[in-house]
Amino acid sequence: MEKYSFLELARKRRSIRKYQDRPVEREKLKLCLEAARLSPSACNSQPYKFIVVDDRAVRDNLAKEIFSGIYSICKFAALAPAFAIIVSQKQNITARVGNKIQDIDFRQVDIGIAAEHFVLQAEELDLGTCHIGLFNKKKAAEILKIPKNYRAELMISIGYRDENPKEREKKNFDDMASFNGY
Ligand SMILES: Cc1cc2nc3c(=O)[nH]c(=O)nc-3n(C[C@H](O)[C@H](O)[C@H](O)COP(=O)(O)O)c2cc1C
Repeated sequence: MEKYSFLELARKRRSIRKYQDRPVEREKLKLCLEAARLSPSACNSQPYKFIVVDDRAVRDNLAKEIFSGIYSICKFAALAPAFAIIVSQKQNITARVGNKIQDIDFRQVDIGIAAEHFVLQAEELDLGTCHIGLFNKKKAAEILKIPKNYRAELMISIGYRDENPKEREKKNFDDMASFNGY
């Protein structure tokens, strides 16, 4: 496996929506989870759990339900060999106070960071991924037996890539950053 610097990895990552029909090794999935486990979170509250689906029958049953109707725009993910569904958990007291003071739900931030750790680890392992926010969360909760006070928030599809998309347009440096003032 080739070794990449962090910036090279970030540069070569793309959202991948077409996958080879080839399972992803459990060991690789566990490395991605480990990278997510190590991510920072507000007040170290780690308000998430990753549910990985890598069994074809479970995947098919889930995908049929969560990517139908208005969600069928994300049907590409039904053919991903694996998914991670990220559920948000109750926060600890310090994180709840932090949220109130800042008027922001830091769980969303924390989930985004953990998800991207997962994605970049996958990239290092030559796996393709796509974050998916558009899926039927109620159905996912039902099928995966997610407890009532937890919520499915985001998914990541993962597999060996079967496409090589061009880099999507990104803001140029001066539009996305400045020094010492807006
Ligand atoms: C939080 C989040 C949610 C996303 N949800 C979806 C989605 O529901 N369906 C989809 O096809 N892509 C989804 N994407 C992927 C974005 O469309 C993609 O990151 C963006 O177009 C830039 O392309 P790139 O990832 O190749 O740089 C999501 C990305 C993020 C970060």
